[in-house]
Amino acid sequence: MPTSTHPDVMEKLVSLCKRRGFIFQSSEIYGGTGSVWDYGPLGVELKKNLKDRWWSSMVRERDDIEGIDAAILMHPRVWEASGHVAGFTDPLVDCTNCKKRFRADDPKIKGEPGTPEAQCPSCGMKGTLTAPRLFNLMFKTFMGPVEDSAAVVYLRPETAQGIFVNFLNVQQATRQKVPFGIAQIGKAFRNEITPGNFIFRTREFEQMEMQFFVEPGTDEEHFEYWREQRMNWHQSLGLAPERLRFKPHEQLAHYARAAADIEFDFGGSLGFQEIEGIHNRSDFDLGRHQEYSGKKLEYFDQPNNKRYVPFVIETSVGADRTTLAVLVNAYREESVPGEDEGRTVLALHPSLAPIKAGIFPLVKKDGMPEFATRLAAELRKSFPVFYDESGAIGRRYRRQDEVGTPFCLTVDGQTTQDGTVTVRDRDTLQQERVAADQVQRYIQDRLGSA
Ligand code: GAP
Repeated sequence: MPTSTHPDVMEKLVSLCKRRGFIFQSSEIYGGTGSVWDYGPLGVELKKNLKDRWWSSMVRERDDIEGIDAAILMHPRVWEASGHVAGFTDPLVDCTNCKKRFRADDPKIKGEPGTPEAQCPSCGMKGTLTAPRLFNLMFKTFMGPVEDSAAVVYLRPETAQGIFVNFLNVQQATRQKVPFGIAQIGKAFRNEITPGNFIFRTREFEQMEMQFFVEPGTDEEHFEYWREQRMNWHQSLGLAPERLRFKPHEQLAHYARAAADIEFDFGGSLGFQEIEGIHNRSDFDLGRHQEYSGKKLEYFDQPNNKRYVPFVIETSVGADRTTLAVLVNAYREESVPGEDEGRTVLALHPSLAPIKAGIFPLVKKDGMPEFATRLAAELRKSFPVFYDESGAIGRRYRRQDEVGTPFCLTVDGQTTQDGTVTVRDRDTLQQERVAADQVQRYIQDRLGSA
């Protein structure tokens, strides 16, 4: 049953993303890799624009947050300290008959796994499901030429630990004073048991995480501040406010004193789902890394002559999952006044759109292609544009609407007389004439003010 009043557009989106080069299934010619996706020419631009927006708001526009880029492979003790070796697990059951594996809480399992009554949801046999066993979600590999237990390393399941272990390096190098933050964007890997819904839950994904180090006792006010900041950021991407909500955690993770998710309504039966977590992690992480590494991770507050292990407020958002939210939010099928054919449009925020302007000569003669080619080359120095001279003008507009291009510029008969082009707005369909030598400034202003 649908849990959302918004339609389920996932299937249409998957098809559009493949057709227009946003997102492809990984290793498709070999039958695909489970829940791993590749970004195509337009997808890589869209996700990069999203990550740039995050990096700007977190690092570039603030003087109290520093950026880093830590390695994916870390010392294996990191994951013992963080609790991931012992606790980053899902309970699973195996069917000894069909060899399929299920989460122990899979609602399709009848009866209690491990007992003779329990029935396999796949092959239907009774008594073949094992008792639940804990399965660690971290991917393991080996460092160096010897594949033994001493050489095991993990692909990081979150980027956060790279920040914790660098806390003092960054603080001392930058002479930041608490409160301050460290931010990074990077890949994370989880051997998810129930991945799915396109790029919503995958086994390889990107996180954008920020840990804000604060004095114990001030953590609650910082938690509230970051909750609001993060919600405002999602709205600034153009996500509809009524599709966003906070969800406080009823059960807290072992490290958390308080936690709230920001959820987005993906429509259909998926409905509201987490896109970002904001956590008050107390001094759990720095405390554990002190204990496991034997190195002090204290901050010295010189004016007040006191030392302490800071508390951490974490904001953790998935770049891929937010990309999906942005796509779902933008997808529309509309009728066009005065035209028989409707249009599919991605009403992406202009700052996120992979292509900022389509540039078309109205016809392939009278100097129009030459003028339009020169204009495209000039504008390409400032932002991505797409030159298209094939097919009827209406079809060229539709092709750009479908990939979210906010402006289409047409060079026509009047251009060669007075040097103006038409600028068509994707959302209002309004057209106005702008001098070709002013069009770069015009679009730049519109991108900035949207
Ligand atoms: N450091 C805290 C942490 O990693 P999390 O709630 O496990 O917290 C944070 O993950 C965000 O990362 C999620 O809100 C989601 O956007 C993204 N994320 C987590 N697992 C994911 C997966 N398997 N596929 C895509 N995104 C994922």
